[in-house]
Amino acid sequence: MLVQIPDVLSAEQVAHARHRLASVEWVDGRVTAGPQSARAKDNRQVPEEHPVGRELGEMIVQALQRHPLFISAALPLHVFPPLFNSYSGGQSFGSHVDNAIRQVPGTAHRLRTDLSCTLFLSGPDEYDGGELMIEDTYGAHSVKLPAGHLVLYPSTSLHHVRPVTRGARVCSFFWLQSLVRNDADRTLLFDLDAGIRQLHGLDAAGAAAVQLTGVYHNLLRRWAEL
Ligand code: NI
Repeated sequence: MLVQIPDVLSAEQVAHARHRLASVEWVDGRVTAGPQSARAKDNRQVPEEHPVGRELGEMIVQALQRHPLFISAALPLHVFPPLFNSYSGGQSFGSHVDNAIRQVPGTAHRLRTDLSCTLFLSGPDEYDGGELMIEDTYGAHSVKLPAGHLVLYPSTSLHHVRPVTRGARVCSFFWLQSLVRNDADRTLLFDLDAGIRQLHGLDAAGAAAVQLTGVYHNLLRRWAEL
């Protein structure tokens, strides 16, 4: 399931992030790539443990924790500290699948990447190209979102970033391990939760909403892994 999460960051937070990132010495993005994706990858990144990246990553994670649509869609267990990349001057990232396991820098903690996230920090009018292309059994999906918006997609998906032919595309990207590993199970819970939230607006729905909320939690209890 591919889900767009609007307004993760406010315009002020995006401007703050862009201002802070302008002070950083960026490095070749191949530092976090595996051997296959290193051949496909051509971009710049903020070094993994850079204090500016950590500070902005913390701002993003806190914003996500307050976003009901993100929580409902992702059911996050562990979130990798967000990283930052930039594409300009024709840079791109060829087709690849993200690494299955990531070690959190500076810790012994490893997480399984169930979901991949891209948070756009540049507006679509600031650059040409740079679409994130995500493939699933329904075909290829082109994603290019307003600044402050995020896309969430299964880390099992083949994806690539088209060449940026004008301007610069600055994004944050990261992965998370979900409480619910299976994408189809997680999608059922997301749809059920959306339906329950609609029922909450209806006066007559009381008993049905209670029953369906119980079903939601009992499915989550069946599928969640901590
Ligand atoms: Ni990727």
